[in-house]
Amino acid sequence: MLKVESLSKNYDSKQVLADVTFQVNPGEVVGLVGENGAGKSTLLNTLATLIPLEKGHIEFNGLRYESDRQKLRQKIGFIPQDIAVWEEFSVEENMVFFEQLSWVRKSREQLRQLCLDMKLDRWKEKTQSLSGGMKRKLNIAISLIHDPDILLLDEPTVGIDLKSRKEIGSYLHDLAKVKGKTIIYTSHDMEEIMTYCDRIYVIGNDPFYKNLLLENGKKVEVL
Ligand SMILES: Nc1ncnc2c1ncn2[C@@H]1O[C@H](COP(=O)(O)OP(=O)(O)O)[C@@H](O)[C@H]1O
Ligand SMILES: [Mg+2]
Repeated sequence: MLKVESLSKNYDSKQVLADVTFQVNPGEVVGLVGENGAGKSTLLNTLATLIPLEKGHIEFNGLRYESDRQKLRQKIGFIPQDIAVWEEFSVEENMVFFEQLSWVRKSREQLRQLCLDMKLDRWKEKTQSLSGGMKRKLNIAISLIHDPDILLLDEPTVGIDLKSRKEIGSYLHDLAKVKGKTIIYTSHDMEEIMTYCDRIYVIGNDPFYKNLLLENGKKVEVL
């Protein structure tokens, strides 16, 4: 279980996260929504241990962010907003490269299966010739090589075709439901968020998101 207690974050004098508290259970898909600049990426980056914890307390499955950073990193899969793959490598070469960098050993067949699970079947194709949706899938497959327990995704479906968006959404949903992973992701596509997320958090003061969700009969909590 992920527990976030009284988390605050300032950039200089600007407060971005103010006393944020929430919990996420294994097997849950949680959506984070909010206007640009609300602090979604800041929260995800903090959960990914990329931004140091300054004020508050976070723990995941008993590991504390204050003291267990190294162990935590082995449990976390993070997909940043900007796709991070090697364009000049094939899908296979990307997967093997990142497998070598990780602390687990996976066979080529296992790596290929990770891609196939996401309907990414261009194993030998150069990444630069793939569509945005395919690259995004590759990015997600890379983040799953070390079999993380929690997956954090920053706008994984922005700017990609509808088919890939649906495939990624339902794949994330299955990862949580079948494999018990904890998934937190941000998106501006409210229909997608409402379809695939068990719970939705709104960050920031703009009432737009909250009202839209309530109008659609969704339960919503404001952080
Ligand atoms: N490294 C940084 N230094 C200073 N301000 C930042 C930094 N990163 C983000 N911010 C500011 O913090 C606020 C929240 O940003 P961010 O977490 O990226 O929001 P979102 O992902 O919801 O668009 C914005 O006002 C942004 O300009
Ligand atoms: Mg962001």
